[in-house]
Amino acid sequence: MPKRDFLSFQDVTKAEVNALFDLAARMKSGAYREKPLAGKTLGMIFAKSSTRTRVSFEVGAYRLGGHALFLSSQDIQLGRGEPICDMARVLSRMVDGIMIRTFAHADVEELAKWSTVPVINGLTDLHHPCQVLADLFTMKEHLGGYEGRRVAWIGDGNNMANSWLDAAALLGFEVRIACPEGYEPSREIFERASGATKVLITEEPEEAVEGADVVNTDVWASMGHEAEAEERKMAFKGYVVDAELMKLAKPSAIFLHCLPAHRGEEVTNEVIEGPQSRVFDEAENRLHAQNALLATLMV
Ligand code: CP
Ligand code: NVA
Repeated sequence: MPKRDFLSFQDVTKAEVNALFDLAARMKSGAYREKPLAGKTLGMIFAKSSTRTRVSFEVGAYRLGGHALFLSSQDIQLGRGEPICDMARVLSRMVDGIMIRTFAHADVEELAKWSTVPVINGLTDLHHPCQVLADLFTMKEHLGGYEGRRVAWIGDGNNMANSWLDAAALLGFEVRIACPEGYEPSREIFERASGATKVLITEEPEEAVEGADVVNTDVWASMGHEAEAEERKMAFKGYVVDAELMKLAKPSAIFLHCLPAHRGEEVTNEVIEGPQSRVFDEAENRLHAQNALLATLMV
């Protein structure tokens, strides 16, 4: 069987996502006791910081009977210019799967092209599919599903926004993105999604949140954009998820944030600590959703 990668939601079908969530639910409940990664190693390459991704993959691999290897790009030869095509072939002879977090999405595609073991995207500038996988699982737990639901995205049209658009196109829900001009998601991804489901870009947070089932935001300056932080603070001034904005969503709406969050910038303390917030379930679900993915891809 050819190896399978998970670089974005374009790599999976709707039936596969549903199957992953059935498995993730069994894993979360404790009913799943198998060790499909016994004797196997997941190599984890990080060119950016991480708390959740690193810990969830490392703990996850251990729970499945395997081992995870933390490879900071600072410390491996990649940081000194070793070509990705060489690293991919070397790692493929030693590990059974590769998770990578880096800047350019094209680098992950290059890695996947040359690797003979599955490659999982742990975040690039373009996508964060593992996070959205966990977010969808959280939606399923708290709202009963995602089909036909409305997801509001407030703020930067970043990697998370792009992955939400891809997921919406695949699974059939609506995404409304409110962002300032110049901070829209990828045009190509938006256009692809608009051919498959209801999607909207507006400059008005109120329009995006109205009647939403999920209200979602992220930091104004993602990793790699730190130098623009002050400029972005000005641009995103009106894009704060506060209690007033939450009132426009459905009363049953949940608030999600991939974390880390900047309280007082993209979200108020009241909302992130409030009764609609599911951010810690969302963070925990990284572990369960990814373990379903590891148990599916690394066998
Ligand atoms: N949400 C997320 O990916 O968190 P980390 O950057 O801590 O991995
Ligand atoms: N959009 C953020 C997500 C962090 C988990 C970033 O790329 O930095």
